[in-house]
Amino acid sequence: MMDKTHRVDEVTGHRRMRRLRKADWQRRMVQENYLTVDDLIWPIFVVPGTNILEPITAMPGVNRMSVDKAVEAAKRAADLGIPALATFPNVEMELRDQTGSEVLKSNNLLNQVTTAIKKAVPNIGVITDVALDPFTSHGHDGILRDGEIVNDETVDQLVRAAVAQADAGSDIIAPSDMMDGRIGAIRRGLDAAGHQSVGIMSYATKFASCHYGPYREAISTSGLLKGDKKTYYIDPANGTQAVRDAALDVEEGADMLMVKPGLPYLDICWRLKESFGLPVFAYQVSGEYSQIKAAAANGWIDGERAMLETLMCFKRAGCDGILTYFAVEVAQMLAKRN
Ligand code: PBG
Repeated sequence: MMDKTHRVDEVTGHRRMRRLRKADWQRRMVQENYLTVDDLIWPIFVVPGTNILEPITAMPGVNRMSVDKAVEAAKRAADLGIPALATFPNVEMELRDQTGSEVLKSNNLLNQVTTAIKKAVPNIGVITDVALDPFTSHGHDGILRDGEIVNDETVDQLVRAAVAQADAGSDIIAPSDMMDGRIGAIRRGLDAAGHQSVGIMSYATKFASCHYGPYREAISTSGLLKGDKKTYYIDPANGTQAVRDAALDVEEGADMLMVKPGLPYLDICWRLKESFGLPVFAYQVSGEYSQIKAAAANGWIDGERAMLETLMCFKRAGCDGILTYFAVEVAQMLAKRN
């Protein structure tokens, strides 16, 4: 028989990677990661009032919803199998002040929506953000005194806010403020109030990123924010420091870790997963969502494929789940495939 060995076989020593890619069935056999509905957490924006669905210009396809509409949305999400929601309130301007005192009210907008969702849709998890930014008149996550975001006073406020959120029915508290010591303080506060089973998903590594722009339109903080958040969020240049931030949160009792933003920080996702073995979540933030939507609207990329590819990449990077504004769209797509 004629020897058909090619010089490529000699070069590669007869190894050929393309054998594993030659057909759909073969590719499916060796696929390493899968995206399922269980990976999705859906962030939603809530406004006061009833029967309101208000489009957010900078986030095509995303609406602010009144509590009644949020409850309907939660039902749809639960029916699709989405495990949890993350809620963000667009608080009335006149209720915002220097210390974000509205955050402490047991019946504030955020706590109202939690109670309403847990009552109507008990089988979906509710994750509440405990930073002060939706409640402050200056748009910062902490209390502002003489031009400084004061750490310890903010932590005291956050602990009380977290207990109020848990009282309202929140299943998981997600501190997104990056104050020092807040995870341990919140854990103690929750336990002292009898909320031992309420979890903490720490926004452990939150970077001072440009990608939050559309979110700030969504909760009306963009016009308020003076200066930037660089004295508390992490510098995008720092990976090792981010791992240390996460390590402290792990020591203080975080149950789950989050990386935010998502796609530009996949190295951090991987490092956290490798370092701690805790569940790691990525937040594909508003700016990431809007970039995909905008390019797709212009016909410059295939939006659906960009959505699915980016979400899959989070899985490959070690994430256990993704907070994404695409959650419902993806869940519907996954449901059709099965
Ligand atoms: C602040 C907070 C931010 C987001 C959620 N909570 C960032 C910020 O405004 O600084 C961003 C979410 C997104 O961009 O999708 N506590």
